[in-house]
Amino acid sequence: MMPKITCIVDNTARRGSPFWGEHGLSFHIETDQGCALLDTGRSEAVFLHNLGLLGKHPRDVDALILSHAHYDHTGAVDVVLSLYPGLPLFASPEILRPRFSRREGKYKFIGLSLSREELDQRADLHLSATPMEVLPGVWTTGEISQRPEPQGRSEHHFVPDGDGWRPDPYQDDISVVVETEKGLIVVCGCCHAGLLNTLAHVARTFHRPIVAILGGTHLLDAEEAYLHHVANVLRDTYGAPDLYLNHCTGERAYAILANALGDQVHPCPAGTAWPF
Ligand SMILES: [Fe+2]
Ligand SMILES: [Fe+2]
Repeated sequence: MMPKITCIVDNTARRGSPFWGEHGLSFHIETDQGCALLDTGRSEAVFLHNLGLLGKHPRDVDALILSHAHYDHTGAVDVVLSLYPGLPLFASPEILRPRFSRREGKYKFIGLSLSREELDQRADLHLSATPMEVLPGVWTTGEISQRPEPQGRSEHHFVPDGDGWRPDPYQDDISVVVETEKGLIVVCGCCHAGLLNTLAHVARTFHRPIVAILGGTHLLDAEEAYLHHVANVLRDTYGAPDLYLNHCTGERAYAILANALGDQVHPCPAGTAWPF
């Protein structure tokens, strides 16, 4: 069976569908070996409503993967672990680092709301900076340690550093790789490590062609010239994989990629299922 990947939460919902939209991200990944969630979106109301539209309850999944700590990806972890105590949970160990957003000089906590102790008690916790096989054929990328290309940064994101602050290094940022007969599907959370850095890491680690990329690519602040570079690399290095872009991709990035790559580029609001 070809894996079936459904966007459960995105900033927007598919037109005419019963899915709800909310700033955040979650994907449901189903293979013939089981199913996994990537992220939980922001609120339990939207997450549970949209997951329920698939006829699913959190107890029906075999694993939860967290792409990174931000609240718009981990906001419903608490309720998921209440509904499914002991759920296998996969993430980078760096997900435990507190993270903040600075606006007008004020720092607001935007990280994971659960501590290491709570996660140890309530989940079957798997934290590793190296790739982990979550289900047969479904992997975490592990840490994207080589980042020669620009990262998917926000000028607002900071972590505490001694008595002060420093820009968030986004070491927690991972994506998911799903193996299919045709090649690899890369499912991204926010891609703070940078889309091209993530793809190069996947190519080095998994040695198979990338046939599709889904999720948030954090190109919303990228310069126009860089977006053309991304389009060229996607076409020339990766053979123009299918792109299902959402969340933090940005409208300008979407337009430039769609103009350059045509029918390969699709939106991916909540309720989008791949393959159609
Ligand atoms: Fe995000
Ligand atoms: Fe994020």
